[in-house]
Amino acid sequence: MNVTERRRPSTWTRPVPRAVFPLGTLHVSLGNDPATYVACHHNFLLASCTSQEEPMSKVNAEQIDYWNGRAGAKWVAMQASLDVMLAAATAELKARAGSVSQLRVLDIGCGTGETCTIWLDGGAYVTGVDVSAPMLVRAAERTQGKARLLEVDASQWVADTPFDLVVSRFGVMFFAEPDQAFMTIAANVRPGGRLLFTCWRQVADNQWANTPLSAIRSLLPEVPPPPPDAPGPFAFANKDRLARILLQAGFADIVIEPRDVPICLACEGGVEAAVTLVMQVGPSAAALAGASDDVKAIAAERLKTVLEPFNKDGVVTLGGAIWVVEARRSGPKCR
Ligand SMILES: C[S@@+](CC[C@H](N)C(=O)[O-])C[C@H]1O[C@@H](n2cnc3c(N)ncnc32)[C@H](O)[C@@H]1O
Repeated sequence: MNVTERRRPSTWTRPVPRAVFPLGTLHVSLGNDPATYVACHHNFLLASCTSQEEPMSKVNAEQIDYWNGRAGAKWVAMQASLDVMLAAATAELKARAGSVSQLRVLDIGCGTGETCTIWLDGGAYVTGVDVSAPMLVRAAERTQGKARLLEVDASQWVADTPFDLVVSRFGVMFFAEPDQAFMTIAANVRPGGRLLFTCWRQVADNQWANTPLSAIRSLLPEVPPPPPDAPGPFAFANKDRLARILLQAGFADIVIEPRDVPICLACEGGVEAAVTLVMQVGPSAAALAGASDDVKAIAAERLKTVLEPFNKDGVVTLGGAIWVVEARRSGPKCR
């Protein structure tokens, strides 16, 4: 079965967790259990670690479908460009993590694996979790069997042994019930261990998001904006809400720092490449999802015009506004 084509009803059950392995570096025995699920995808296996049937998360079903559908496919297709786009945020995360040598690291919403490769290079023992099968397949290609990759809902999955460091690059803003999700995440951090992640500040502070969006807004029907705390990239724009969720989940020493970072919409290819990216991922892409081809064509022209002033020798860079969030799970302070 081609995992990128799999269809999932929102109330399905299936064996969990599933691990993703490159062929030839498979370390677990799949056995003869008929309940074991194995799907070939290029040179990779998606395999269940257990035959035990558990109800899959209904609470995050919408996001799970989204990340296994058009969003997952786009993030895989544009992985290299997105990693360039997010490079400055990645650097913030890496600097804040410090030495990860010998640490047990859990990467939440690890996606196509960019940050997993960084923790591996730093000498960590890495587990990456994500709900997106196609993105995990790319992560498995990139980590070559060195990371444990699991297709699980991070708001529900608890490891047998908690981690020294739980990290995420923009992968924790998609929970329907964040209070409950961060309690589960806290259970995955050992007492005294650290949580570290990046998330976006509000759209109005993110030039890379609001500049294209303003240019195309008049082309689209007026729709009431989603509630500001709805699951999505900007769900944690409100720092006070985020602090409350973390505190309530059992975290202490909470630091939520604003960082302004360059967001490179194209590192080569100039405005054409930048327009392709913003029409594929992010708020403008979401706004244009249901638009006709004619509207999309006009939108592309407007986007070219509005992005041209940011084009310097083929590199298109706008401003980004993120929170770098760090907290410690209440307990003894040791590392
Ligand atoms: C914006 S992408 C970031 C991916 C990756 N961290 C990166 O920076 O390239 C968000 C990721 O969170 C994942 N995600 C969303 N909800 C999740 C959940 N409940 N549990 C685990 N992963 C989730 C998505 O599948 C997606 O890979």
